[in-house]
Amino acid sequence: MSDPLSSLSNPSTASPWRLSVAPMLDWTDRHCRYFHRLLTRHTLLYTEMVTTGALLHGDKPRHLDFNDEEHPVALQLGGSEPADLAACAKLAEQWGYDEVNLNCGCPSERVQKGAFGACLMAEPALVADGVKAMRDACSIPVTVKHRIGIDRIESYDFVRDFVGQIAEAGCEVFIVHARNAWLQGLSPKENREIPPLRYELVHRLKQEFPALTIVLNGGVKGDDEIAEQLQHVDGVMVGRQAYHEPWQMTGWDERFFGTAGPALSREQVEAAWVAYLERQGERWPQAVRHSLGLWNGQPGARRWRQVWSDHRLKTLAPAAVAALATKARLEQVERVAAEPSRELVA
Ligand SMILES: Cc1cc2nc3c(=O)[nH]c(=O)nc-3n(C[C@H](O)[C@H](O)[C@H](O)COP(=O)(O)O)c2cc1C
Repeated sequence: MSDPLSSLSNPSTASPWRLSVAPMLDWTDRHCRYFHRLLTRHTLLYTEMVTTGALLHGDKPRHLDFNDEEHPVALQLGGSEPADLAACAKLAEQWGYDEVNLNCGCPSERVQKGAFGACLMAEPALVADGVKAMRDACSIPVTVKHRIGIDRIESYDFVRDFVGQIAEAGCEVFIVHARNAWLQGLSPKENREIPPLRYELVHRLKQEFPALTIVLNGGVKGDDEIAEQLQHVDGVMVGRQAYHEPWQMTGWDERFFGTAGPALSREQVEAAWVAYLERQGERWPQAVRHSLGLWNGQPGARRWRQVWSDHRLKTLAPAAVAALATKARLEQVERVAAEPSRELVA
């Protein structure tokens, strides 16, 4: 099959930040991003967070390599030392990333020990220095992802002053996860669920800083919710929903970027994805987990997922597993056709 992405030459005039898939550690690796790109052409994709230490002292190609098809793609950094951030921003540009983003929102204890992530919201002067150093070191956009507050700080002034100070250092794009990070007592997962969402603070930031690009993140699910948020802010970033229900993204190019997307059927996406998995050789099982939601909501989805998740099949070639998965799915489709009440358990 020819590359389904190569024939698309329909530049959108919408802001690149209008819609994006969130950086998610362990999830949005390069395989995941390739898969997402088969579903949406214009949605901005973020890498997992990579720490400055890992980049400067570790295996750079392992952390930075990506597929050409992934553009537009942004590298997210975790770090706080301006010189290190600058060196990593330079690497991001050299490697061909379209943007470099600084994480000021991650609450994990490991990240706090490294004194970066959400605890940086308490140190806006340091973040401003970091942003300035990054901007001086590269010519791609430098953006910041942060929360609305940390711990029990509930006041709007806190996030307003943070954004104001970082904007003075030259940052023009802010991605705001609309809940506080509680730095003690909650796991990172709980920190994505328990602190309440307060969208109105993000809307207020846009009102107060109309020249900045303000992107809202956190808990956004359906397309109508995205559209509603776009009445108030410049962009929406979607994390878990996009990962778990990837097919939803197939409507995004047309609805939110005003331009045609890849417009592939699920079968065509699967064929292109299996071709990609074949190119990964024996490492394909690491990549396939990101696509397990492809048939969600369709008869046979569960059977299809079970085959792709079956450890005993991991030594086969992807094309062989795909044939088994499709067979299992279609058998279920036939069963549902013969006995529609079964659809409920498909
Ligand atoms: C598995 C997982 C890993 C995450 N890793 C990161 C990360 O590396 N950097 C970051 O800024 N946020 C990370 N997040 C937070 C998301 O980017 C996003 O802010 C959060 O999930 C809220 O958006 P959502 O409700 O649309 O999922 C992660 C979230 C999940 C679920």
